[in-house]
Amino acid sequence: MTEIATVEALERALATVIDPELRRPMLQLGMLRDLAIEGDVASLRVVLTTPACPLKDRIQQDVEAAVVGVVPGIQSVRLTWDANVSSTRGLPGRQEIPGVRNAVAISAGKGGVGKTTVGVNVALALRQLGARVGLLDADVYGPNVPIMLGIDEHPQAGPDGKMRPLDAHGLKVVSFGTILKPGQPVIWRGPMLAKALREFLYEVAWGELDYLVIDLPPGTGDVQLSLAQSMPMTGAVICTTPQDVSLADVSRGIEMFRQLNVPVLGVVENMSGFVCPHCNERTDIFGSGGGRELAQRYELPFLGAIPLDPRIRVGDNTGAPFMVTSPDSPVGRVFVEVASHIAAEVSKENFAAQAGPAMPSGPRVALSR
Ligand SMILES: Nc1ncnc2c1ncn2[C@@H]1O[C@H](COP(=O)(O)OP(=O)(O)OP(=O)(O)O)[C@@H](O)[C@H]1O
Ligand SMILES: [Mg+2]
Repeated sequence: MTEIATVEALERALATVIDPELRRPMLQLGMLRDLAIEGDVASLRVVLTTPACPLKDRIQQDVEAAVVGVVPGIQSVRLTWDANVSSTRGLPGRQEIPGVRNAVAISAGKGGVGKTTVGVNVALALRQLGARVGLLDADVYGPNVPIMLGIDEHPQAGPDGKMRPLDAHGLKVVSFGTILKPGQPVIWRGPMLAKALREFLYEVAWGELDYLVIDLPPGTGDVQLSLAQSMPMTGAVICTTPQDVSLADVSRGIEMFRQLNVPVLGVVENMSGFVCPHCNERTDIFGSGGGRELAQRYELPFLGAIPLDPRIRVGDNTGAPFMVTSPDSPVGRVFVEVASHIAAEVSKENFAAQAGPAMPSGPRVALSR
């Protein structure tokens, strides 16, 4: 006699599947939904905490292993993927940005290490993975985002008086560069700077965003302080290069975020080895591994190593960044990996900050691929 599979038996089997990042039963976390059985096929919807989840294959394998050959009568499992991005809870004294679930600052101890390049391409990677993404260029001293994204318009206010972000390659963008006249000297003093930053956070109609990526100026100055004290920042990503030998600037940055109660999500090593555009061979011109060592020293996650590739610099100057022109190249996949790691750390951070295992509610994000 053939056995008839039941949803109850499927549910019992799925109770054993553990989320690899959050290390809790996925069923209990509300991540496995709409269980159904049709003949010998079990189907369910997996609701991830980010569409940029780096562990989809692993989850698929774990679900299959828990069900096929365990639930009588089931031969295969059909998964559909969905995501409901978790949000950072407000901290006392910090004002949330309406609709913005998470804010991630891209920082570095010193200038020129590739903060803006990493921020722009990570934002694009998150967008391409299906998330709703904004980009705030808070580098008041050298706002490069408009050049990198090819933006030359000025933002307009809507009927409600709030500024509308500009759209670039699917990102919602606001930059100091678009409100300054070309060549205008930038002399921001403390209170004026804080006021301008608050306008960019709260007087902009950001809409619904899963991630707001914030490009910071180098170092540990007023912008970092103002932002961290105004809004609930999910976390900061630290960029370094392999030749950051002294590491003193980097350590200062990490200590600053810790003092400001902003979690450090991890370290990205940029300009890590040279990838020849002709043969794709990699050469470690400045050495490599400095970022990983730094991460180890501070017990931080290592989020990935982006090679030095002339095509990245070219994209930065033409308004068509690397993730627009070459998303499927080997280096494009590195940006996707870094973006996925950041998204995973955001989910972990939000989960750790929550008291119970219940998932936050809210509209879901449809996956674009
Ligand atoms: N991985 C890379 N490969 C090749 N060129 C890169 C890479 N990363 C950044 N660059 C180039 O290095 C220069 C500095 O990068 P970027 O402007 O992103 O740094 P930054 O840290 O934001 O600088 P600043 O402190 O001036 O804001 C740019 O010309 C950029 O195109
Ligand atoms: Mg920059």
